[in-house]
Order: sequence, then C-alpha cells, then structure tokens
Amino acid sequence: MTARGPASHAGAWDTYWRGTRENAAHREGGPQEPVLAAFWASFFQTALATGNPPALLDLACGHGAVTGHALQVSPSLAPCCSDYSLSALQGLQQRYPRARCVVADAGHTPFADASFDLVVSQFGVEYAGPEAPYEAARLVATGGTLALLVHVEGGAIYRECADNRDTVMALRELNILGLAQAAFDAGFALNAGIGTPEAFKAAERAFTPAVRGLEQLLQTRGPQAAGGLLQQLYTDIAHMYRRMSAYAPEDVRNWLGGMDGELTAYIGRMQSMLDAGFSRAGMDAVAQGLSATGFSLRELSQLRVSEQAQAAAWVLVAQRR
Ligand SMILES: C[S@@+](CC[C@H](N)C(=O)[O-])C[C@H]1O[C@@H](n2cnc3c(N)ncnc32)[C@H](O)[C@@H]1O
Repeated sequence: MTARGPASHAGAWDTYWRGTRENAAHREGGPQEPVLAAFWASFFQTALATGNPPALLDLACGHGAVTGHALQVSPSLAPCCSDYSLSALQGLQQRYPRARCVVADAGHTPFADASFDLVVSQFGVEYAGPEAPYEAARLVATGGTLALLVHVEGGAIYRECADNRDTVMALRELNILGLAQAAFDAGFALNAGIGTPEAFKAAERAFTPAVRGLEQLLQTRGPQAAGGLLQQLYTDIAHMYRRMSAYAPEDVRNWLGGMDGELTAYIGRMQSMLDAGFSRAGMDAVAQGLSATGFSLRELSQLRVSEQAQAAAWVLVAQRR
C-alpha cells in the first residue's frame, strides 16, 4: 500500500460530488454494483431486524449509497452520515432529509467512543489511510457491529480506476486544451480583423494532431472510457469550434479552464482510489488489530461479480464484545 494523505484529494472528491447526481461512486458514474447492493440489503435485513432502531453511522458516505439500503429496510432510522466533502453531504441531505450530516475526516472523527451501534462504510474509510478502520472501530458500542466494504488492491475496481487514470493522463499529454485555446484565440483574432489567416492556419495545424490523438484514444478505449469524459470533451470542442463566431472568447476560455480543472480532479480521484486499496496482508492486519481490541471477527472475505471476476471488494464484519 502506498502512503496516503487524508486531505490530499479532498478537492477532487468535492468537485466530483458537486457535479454528479449519482448515488454510488465506486464506479465511474455507474449504478450500484448488484453484488454490493445485495450484500448491504442482506446485512441490514439482519442488523435491523429486531429491537429499537440502532444508532447508525455511514462513514465517508458520499451520496449515501449504503444509507439508502438501511433506510429501505428501516425507513424510521435517523442515520448519521459523515464525509469530508460538504457537496457530498448536501446531495445526501436532499435524498435523505432524516439523516444527520457531519463533515469530518474519516481518520479523525469528532464522535465519542462507542457512540454507534452500527458503523458502516463502503469504499470510504480506507481513503483516510491504513489506520482509519481503527478510528471506525473506536466508534462502535459494546455489542455493536462494524461493517466495511473496502477497495481491493489490484481488484476489479482498482484496475478500472488505473485504466481511467492512464487514459486521462494520455489525454493530458496531447495538450489538447492548450492547443485548442491557441486555435480559438487565432480564430477570434481573425474574426475581429486583428489576426491573419496564416496565423489561424498555423494554430489549426498545431491543434490537429491533438484532435487525432483524442480520436485514437476514443477508438482504442471506447466512448465510455474515463466515465465518458473524453467523449464529452471531443463533442464539446467540436461543437464550439464549428460555431466559433457564436461564442465570446471569454466563454471558450472559461470552458477550457473548467475542463482543465475537471481533468486534474479526475486524475486525483482515480489516484485516491488506487492509493486506498488494501492488500490481503493489510486486511489480515486490520482483522488481527480488531480482534486484539475487543472485536470478534464475523466475516473477512472478498465479493466478486462472478466466480471468474477479479474481487470487487473486501468484506469485513466485526462485532464488539
Ligand atoms: C468511492 S466514494 C464512496 C462513497 C460512498 N460510500 C459510496 O459507496 O458511494 C469515497 C468517498 O470517500 C470520501 N472521502 C475520501 N477521503 C475521505 C476522508 N479522508 N474522510 C472522509 N471522507 C473521505 C469521498 O468524499 C467520497 O465520498
């Protein structure tokens, strides 16, 4: 596992949550993987079956993919949901008005020891570093349960994130945004009567190989690569370029600048997922650490979409004695 800085990718995640309406974030804008949904449905059927509604905490909750499963089983729950992205929590609050939302780093939460009966997290606590599962465990009351789905180092989602990161880094190397800006500048100057056709042609000649490079990336990696970001970039640039005279130079500059920020945030978010993956040894160490601090291990396994598939997640369920 590589070293991780809890706050180092905060901006990248906040950018993501500000721009998405998706529920779950483990795949690039995709729906909740059925095998993960089935895990939580079954977990909450058991965990919420009896007694008073427990105090539930969903850590690094995003838009509340896990909270949603709990509320389906027990609509009267008033869950506590925590994430370091305010935008994520704003989205969650709209979805689930009953939730109490707390902005916090999952590695250093403001909650008291043993203050929740159920502490859950899906692809969440591991982002806060290798020690963060113990912070989650600290919050579990006696008799309470900790249930984590954790990224698998080298697993299915990990590979998808690595491909997506590499695709966007390859796009970055084309410098398409910088070359597009130069071509737009030359085109606007020509339209305004202060530029020359030669200067515009030269800028266009420099821009063309980057466009071809993007087309090649789209061909080899498909239109859905990197969550459709490349396809969107291609379509939008082509649209603006064809209708250049309909745009103001500052609109194009702002759009290209915004897209540059999105690419940076995207690479940061993919990298944070890669850094968060736990190896077998890492999970074994967490399981041992929990056993040594008063927990009984109920489950340590891997979830797979199919038998042949790479693991999608580590499952860790432990109960405080
Ligand atoms: C892959 S998403 C999972 C979100 C949600 N649990 C789900 O399953 O859709 C990772 C989440 O962790 C949050 N996050 C990343 N690092 C964090 C940290 N150090 N403390 C708290 N939240 C963090 C991100 O904002 C994001 O919401």
